[in-house]
Amino acid sequence: MSKKTRTTNSLYEGAVPVGGELGTSTSKFCVDDKVVMFSSVVGDALTPILEENWRRMNRSRDRRWVRNLAIWDDKRGDWRYVGAMTRSSETPNWFTERGLVQNMDDAFVGLQAGLFLLNKERTKDGKKPLDKIGMGFGIPVKAGENAADEFFSYLRTRLEKKGEQSFLTIKAKNVATGEEETIRIQLAFVAIQFQGYGAYMAMLFGKYGMKLYNTYVIDVGHGTWIKLPVIDNEVDMLLADSIPYGMHTITENISRVIFEKSRQRYRIPEQRVMEKLPRNETRIEVPGEGVFDFRPVLDNELRDMVDKILVRVRQDLGELSRRGKFIDYFAIVGGGAPLVFEPIKKGIQRYYDWNDEVTNARVVDVSTIGVHPRTINSVGFMLLARDQIAIELDRPVDPSFGVRELVTDELKGDGRDLRASRQPLSKAVIKS
Ligand SMILES: Nc1ncnc2c1ncn2[C@@H]1O[C@H](COP(=O)(O)OP(=O)(O)OP(=O)(O)O)[C@@H](O)[C@H]1O
Ligand SMILES: [Mg+2]
Repeated sequence: MSKKTRTTNSLYEGAVPVGGELGTSTSKFCVDDKVVMFSSVVGDALTPILEENWRRMNRSRDRRWVRNLAIWDDKRGDWRYVGAMTRSSETPNWFTERGLVQNMDDAFVGLQAGLFLLNKERTKDGKKPLDKIGMGFGIPVKAGENAADEFFSYLRTRLEKKGEQSFLTIKAKNVATGEEETIRIQLAFVAIQFQGYGAYMAMLFGKYGMKLYNTYVIDVGHGTWIKLPVIDNEVDMLLADSIPYGMHTITENISRVIFEKSRQRYRIPEQRVMEKLPRNETRIEVPGEGVFDFRPVLDNELRDMVDKILVRVRQDLGELSRRGKFIDYFAIVGGGAPLVFEPIKKGIQRYYDWNDEVTNARVVDVSTIGVHPRTINSVGFMLLARDQIAIELDRPVDPSFGVRELVTDELKGDGRDLRASRQPLSKAVIKS
């Protein structure tokens, strides 16, 4: 064994694989069988007065870290609210807007928050703390390789170097209880990929039995929708794109229509429209106007969105076919998937003139492989990291996975998500 191999081995040995992505609305992080999800937003600096006020005003009995989190920003020298906490902040800043990272310092706070919360979940389960990790990280498509380079060079300025090793120190505070905690994690590596690639990895592990199939990922998120063709295990850089049009566009339009209907007297916060969608409710009380059912508006908006998505997808399929490439599977993911899955599937069926059986086999509902379409990318990025570790250590990769719990910063809802666990598949061989 050469010296080089030994140092590489010791770098990867014992690293826990984790996955993460910063979405325009929510960031998702995954370790083992847990996904942590919180709003992609940091608030202004936490002054002692703000903090005191927060504690006094806070009547909530929800004292979990994920709902009351502040992260110490050592670059700017102050505490920052993260996620749910920012609702009490004057100026909330989103890490990303239209799918692009706005401010690296804020995004870094988000990354620290995600890793801190994953560590909390792990130790809560009596597992070893996350003292050494390998990370799969999803970045927006549009900016291409520059975004990855930019992220890496930023990361280097924030990590502590010790010979070959890099460390990240995270100082966190639970604002409800006043508890403070500092952890230090060795970052063995960060593997960066485009956001929809996580879904591809989850399909590779959970459906393809580690064989390579050409996959077209459609990720309908909050601020954007992403198209990501993966051909021969590589992202097609010419066709991959992120389009600034997502569920947010739809809820914004619904809220505007309600405003017009009330003769511009009543504005329904978009958040209220948004909250109704997962519950399949479309009726909303408009003061002075009675109950307004936005179902027809929603249906129209969805039809528009699906049409626009299908135009782009058909163009890509035409282009791929001219190059002699064929898509084996389509994966429709993201928070919007429950609303657009069926019509997009129908559109793809019409394009190929497939019968129902072929369509159902090729257009995949990812919940059938045990992952939620909204969190699948974070799970897949953990698998990407796991794969990387196995390759470096020259060991077979364990292809099994299953999300047992979803931890969110939402107060409402049960915050728990039981998913079928996976049986281990055969030994993996992956083209890297
Ligand atoms: N069950 C559901 N039905 C319909 N819409 C939903 C559902 N669950 C979440 N959403 C909507 O999906 C959006 C969030 O999706 P997702 O978490 O994939 O976005 P994101 O990753 O934050 O954004 P982006 O991918 O654009 O960066 C929100 O607008 C939310 O209202
Ligand atoms: Mg997303």
